[in-house]
Amino acid sequence: MADRFLDTDELHQLRAQVCDGLHGDVVELGFGSGLNAQHYPPSVRSVAAVEPSDLAWRMAQTRIAATTAEVVRAGLDGQRLDLPDASVDAALSTFTMCTIADLDLARGS
Ligand SMILES: C[S@@+](CC[C@H](N)C(=O)[O-])C[C@H]1O[C@@H](n2cnc3c(N)ncnc32)[C@H](O)[C@@H]1O
Repeated sequence: MADRFLDTDELHQLRAQVCDGLHGDVVELGFGSGLNAQHYPPSVRSVAAVEPSDLAWRMAQTRIAATTAEVVRAGLDGQRLDLPDASVDAALSTFTMCTIADLDLARGS
């Protein structure tokens, strides 16, 4: 359902704005079905995708294959990231914070 409802032209315009300026190594919290992937600028080298849903991750595979960035599933919970400090250049998250139970933990992780 999220894949259908969040795959609109209007939202893709917003996704393009949010992704503009990303570069280097990025962590994406709540990667979902990969709807942001087409908007990663070529300057994005890698994306550490944090996503608990196996179904969403499977749905994302075609979009992952179409981007030049290396996308790796890097965790299941944005509240507890298993990444070293200062290991990414940017964090991306769209339409996800409302689904995370402890938002303060996610902000600080
Ligand atoms: C409404 S969808 C948005 C997906 C995607 N970010 C987008 O913009 O299309 C919310 C996503 O957050 C994921 N999610 C839920 N709890 C999470 C958590 N604790 N950490 C990371 N992602 C989570 C869900 O599995 C779902 O894929």
